[in-house]
Amino acid sequence: MQQTTNKILVTGGAGYIGSHTVVALVEQGFDVVVLDNFSNSQPESISRIEQITGVKLDVVNADVRDEIALQRVFELHQFDAVIHFAGLKAVGESVDQPLRYYHNNVQGALQLLRVMGDGNCKKIVFSSSATVYGDPSSVPITESFALNATNPYGHSKLMVETLLRDISSSDADWQVSILRYFNPVSAHSSGLIGEDPNGIPNNLMPYISQVAVGRLACLSIYGDDYDTVDGTGVRDYIHVADLASAHIKALQALAPGHGCQAYNIGTGRGYSVLEMVKAFEAASGQTIKYKIAPRRIGDIASCYADTSKSARELGWTAEHDLNGMMQDLWHWQSNNPNGYS
Ligand code: NAD
Ligand code: UFG
Repeated sequence: MQQTTNKILVTGGAGYIGSHTVVALVEQGFDVVVLDNFSNSQPESISRIEQITGVKLDVVNADVRDEIALQRVFELHQFDAVIHFAGLKAVGESVDQPLRYYHNNVQGALQLLRVMGDGNCKKIVFSSSATVYGDPSSVPITESFALNATNPYGHSKLMVETLLRDISSSDADWQVSILRYFNPVSAHSSGLIGEDPNGIPNNLMPYISQVAVGRLACLSIYGDDYDTVDGTGVRDYIHVADLASAHIKALQALAPGHGCQAYNIGTGRGYSVLEMVKAFEAASGQTIKYKIAPRRIGDIASCYADTSKSARELGWTAEHDLNGMMQDLWHWQSNNPNGYS
């Protein structure tokens, strides 16, 4: 395929989803520059990317809100497009520290968009989240559902989505894809890069895999009385490698007249917490100790994507099945019981 977009700035490229996407970009022949302040990642992830790809990466240790540093990067390189992952992502933390979240996520995007505009680089793929659908009226969720965040993290994503729609309406040169991820899980098949959350994980799969390696004693399942297949919450879990390939397709779909488009990035299929526990046990051969706990505040019963727009317009669908997600997760966690440290 002819490649029209070659030199890519990846903000947050040392993080969980960014690192997997950088591997995919390098393997597809893109010329990548990573910008990350390492506030939620380790330089070791960069070494591991280099080990997988065999390519030395160009890495800038800087904050996206640092105007001078950003301008310097744009003076040094003529980027065709930016993939913007850099941001804070913990819902509970955003409730406690709203200003920090708005400053990092909204001010960071504003700064980046301004410098991009000045440098005449007007193609961007932005990391949004299914959290922007709030508590959806039904499932599966299409991109045209009402947008309704319920916490500062979600509001920060919605604000940036609004910003992107507004700049694209004001200037047709902007080509914007907003990717609304459902529940990213798993790790690269090499077992070299994966998710390494700080402290005790909030998310289900890193919690389960840390129980499996003995870092945590017992999983709490938050509620077994939802109106779902077995009473536990249902989500659309997507392999991070499929997420990475969605970014490549999203970049390749940017073209004159694209405007600003949002895409659901999920598998289109939901699994319950208990189904995830059983699938992990089957793939890993480990037994996961769990107990039923009260519902977690803010959780919804079911959330899964209608992915027909991304299939139709990006030519992308998820390829990894549940067992593949679990095997790769176990490969990463068992090889790296303490993550990157
Ligand atoms: P992550 O924390 O692993 O990666 C984010 C990276 O951005 C980190 O390396 C961090 O150091 C860097 N960063 C943060 N603020 C920065 C700043 N101001 N300047 C420069 N670098 C900065 O998170 P992730 O899971 O890879 O998520 C990537 C993006 O996807 C985030 O925007 C997140 O909100 C979004 N997202 C994640 C999920 C998920 O469940 N992981 C779901 C939906 C959306
Ligand atoms: N769960 C447990 N025990 C745990 C952790 C989670 O039972 O220890 C359950 C939750 O109740 C839920 C399911 O597992 O039913 C998934 O929970 P996660 O915390 O892994 O994911 P969420 O769907 O709550 O949220 C994630 C991200 C958000 C993002 C959202 C988008 O954390 O940032 O997906 O769909 F907005």
